[in-house]
Parts: sequence; structure tokens; C-alpha cells
Amino acid sequence: MSILTRRRLLRDAALSATATAGAGLSAAAGGAGLAAATGVLTAGCDSPPGGDPTAGPAPDRLRFPRDFGWGAATSAYQIEGAAKEDGRGESVWDTFSHTPGRTRNGDTGDVAADHYHRWADDLDLMRDLGLGSYRFSVSWPRIQADGTGKPNQRGLDFYKRLVDGLHERGIAPMVTLFHWDLPQALQDAGGWENRDTVHRFADYADAVFRGLGDRVPVWLTVNEPKTVVQNGYLWGHHAPGRQDPDAAYLVAHHLQLAHGLAVRALRATGHDTRIGPALNLHPCYPADDSPAAAAAAKLHDGYENRLYLDPIFTGAYPADVLAHLGPDSRMVRAIRDGDLATIATPVDLLAVQYYTPLYLTGDRNTVTRWPTSEADWQQIYPQGMYDILTRVTRDYGPVPITVTENGLPCPDTLGPDGTVDDAGRIAFLRDHFTAAHRAIADGVPLESYHVWSLLDNFEWAEGYDQRWGLVYVDYPTQRRIPKASAHWYRQVIRDNGL
Ligand code: FCB
Repeated sequence: MSILTRRRLLRDAALSATATAGAGLSAAAGGAGLAAATGVLTAGCDSPPGGDPTAGPAPDRLRFPRDFGWGAATSAYQIEGAAKEDGRGESVWDTFSHTPGRTRNGDTGDVAADHYHRWADDLDLMRDLGLGSYRFSVSWPRIQADGTGKPNQRGLDFYKRLVDGLHERGIAPMVTLFHWDLPQALQDAGGWENRDTVHRFADYADAVFRGLGDRVPVWLTVNEPKTVVQNGYLWGHHAPGRQDPDAAYLVAHHLQLAHGLAVRALRATGHDTRIGPALNLHPCYPADDSPAAAAAAKLHDGYENRLYLDPIFTGAYPADVLAHLGPDSRMVRAIRDGDLATIATPVDLLAVQYYTPLYLTGDRNTVTRWPTSEADWQQIYPQGMYDILTRVTRDYGPVPITVTENGLPCPDTLGPDGTVDDAGRIAFLRDHFTAAHRAIADGVPLESYHVWSLLDNFEWAEGYDQRWGLVYVDYPTQRRIPKASAHWYRQVIRDNGL
């Protein structure tokens, strides 16, 4: 980015931060936002780690609370590979990625980062990084090839080894039950449009809880239900590749119900471990000062955030979204007595995944306000982290929060000296950690933070082109090379701050 472009963006940043301050946050938060927003633009892939010289004085060193959990995250289909081993069945992502034209370069997760075979070395890597927490997901088709019936012991054993290996290295496991790899056999029976899948999920969750026991201190139910709804059923660029709005929101309800039943299944085991949902939240802002833009941002916030937060934390779907969907929508017709009580079964924590803000025009189109990353949907805006964390605490009470995903894809290359210089990722993480620190100072009960991702991996429809890892994966050899950001993160963890 040229210095002129950067200056223009910085000016826009300051202007927009002023608009944000007027758009709902308290005066104190808005003021802090203005200061932070000037740091925002230091965070693209081409930025130096020292930040932009026009970004103002560096803040004082930041210390995080004692026992703050520094972590990293992955998911099964994105890293494991070993697609046909030890009785694993097929998932919708096997089908989707093997369908010509669905993923970039026709990439699939057949081998991915080969973590299924390299897990022990990967755990050593995590220990060397100093991670206190590691978030990964269990592959449903490894536990139940067709999504039903007796659990596959070989599948469970893999995850047992992982959990034990983490404990041996002093790392707390955080396990997601569902990170999008629905068994294909269940998809063939209607997938998440079929209410029966919800009960299959509860059975699967029970099998995993009993199989891994109480050595998993934190469980997460469904990863980003919104992404399944939007990418999988509205836009069709994720599995199962549908474009059917009416089906999409029915799927939303069933994913929420699946979440609630999983919480109940954990309680029924009697294990004294914690559980919560993993939601990707997008702060929604009006793109201009018009009342129409304000109204559009509010409704959009309903679809992006409240549709998932409200039923879990208040026991009701947002009225504006239900009214907008209309009484004849498949979702509205599918809600049965007792469903909302199930969805609202009390949870122990909320996992927040933050990547990008959204800006809405009066006609409910989105516009791009900030520089985007290699992922064109991601605008780089650390203030959004602060805004979403404080908003959740303000609107839903002091439920403990963990950030389970936040990160940046960069065009990382292995240099001739064998290092990977991802200065832009360091700047991005520094700005987002700083925003999270401010949220904690302002009362958000944030207990841990997981960078997406530990390793470069299969980024869904983008295949292997986008690299999100702290650790570079040389796919032809599967060699792992910690990037500059991994070395930097190790120091952050050591200092418990930056
Ligand atoms: C999130 C997904 C995760 C990864 C990141 C970049 O939406 O949960 O698997 O793809 O985006």
C-alpha cells in the first residue's frame, strides 16, 4: 500500500471512528475507539510490525489478567487428512471438495496438514510456543461413519491420545463438537433441514462426552452456525452448496436446537466440565448518517448476531427477524413448543469469533470501509473486536467469554534463509490483542484468546491458497516452520502481554 493510500485510509479511519462513537457506544468507549482506530491501519499483510509512524504514540505495555489463556485454534477437516483411515466415513466436505469447480484448484482435505499422523510433533510445537489452550474439533464421521450408531473406538482413541498428549504438555484442550463436517449419510437424509439430524447430533455429542470423559475442561457445541446458514445454504459456496433462503433459516433453527440438546447431553453425564456455543459475530454499523442506514444496520445485526445470541441467552428469537422472515417461512413454522427452552439451556461460557465488521447502506447493501485482507470478506478493523465484546457483555450480562478465532491470511513465503516473515500478521494480532485488552479493562470477562490458526490449513472453498497459520506448512514435505508471528506470540505468552 502506498503511503498516500495509507494516509487517506487513516483519515477515513478517524472519520469513521467518530461516526462509530456516535452510533451507540458509551462516550467513554467511543472516545477510546477513536484512539484505537488510528492504529487500525497498521494491520494489513504489508505492514511493518512496528506499526504506522502516523498512528500516534505506542500504548504503554499491556498486561493481561493472571491465568489468561493464550491459545490457538484448528478444526478437524482443515488439518487432519487421513480421510479414509481407521473407519472414518465421508462428510459433506469430502463430497463438496471432490465436486469439480467447488474449491480453488480442486483442493480437498484428503491430506491437509497430515495432522492425523503428525499430531505428536504438532503437540510439541504447541508446547514450544507456550500455548496454554488448544482448540480443535472432533470429526463426526470419525466417531460415527454414517452419523448414527455405536461409536468407532479407533476414532475416539485418536482424540483420546490428543487430549492426553495436551495434558502431558500442560495445555488445556478446548473441543468443538461440530466444525461443519456433517456425515454425508445424514446429508443424504436431509441434513440440517431434517429435524432428525438434531437428535443424531445429540447422540453423537453424548458418545464424545462419554468417550473423552471429563478430561476436556471446555466443550464448544456448533462452530459458527451462521456460516453454515449463509455460506452453505444462502450463497452456496460451502458444503452442501445450496442457494435456498427458506431452507437456510430452517437450518439455523435446527443448528440452535442441536446446540441446546448437546448442552443437555453434557449435563446428563454428570461431568463437571463447561460448555458453550462458538459464534462468529459481526458488528454491524450504518454506512452513513441516514435513518434508513441505521434501520438496515439494526435489522442486519438481527440476522448476523441476535438470531444466534438471543435464543441462547434470552430464550427468544429476535422479533424483528421473525417478522422479516414472515409467518410462512420454514423456520418459523418449524419452531415447536419447548424448542426455545432447549436452546436456552444455561451455558457456562460464550466463544466469540471475530474477523470483520459490516457496514450497511439504507437499502441493506454492504459497503467496504476498511482495507481488506487476502480474504475479500475481511475488513481489518480491530475496534470491531472491542465493540463486539463490550456489546455482548452489555446486552447479555457477564457470561465468561473466550475468543476462539481471530486471525489474518497473508501471502507467506518461505525465505531463502528458511524463515517466514509475516510482519503484517504480527501487527494485526497486536492491534486485536490491544482491543481485547481494552475490553477487559472496561469490564468484559474475557478469559482466553485463540489465534486462528495454529497451522496453515485447508481454508474451505479457498483451498490451500490462503495461509492463516502461525506456523507455515510446506505441503510437499509437510515440514512445519514457525513464522515470525509464532516467535512473537511465544514472547507475548511469556510476558502475558505486549
Ligand atoms: C472461520 C472458520 C474457520 C476458518 C476461519 C478463517 O469462519 O470457523 O474454520 O475458516 O474462518
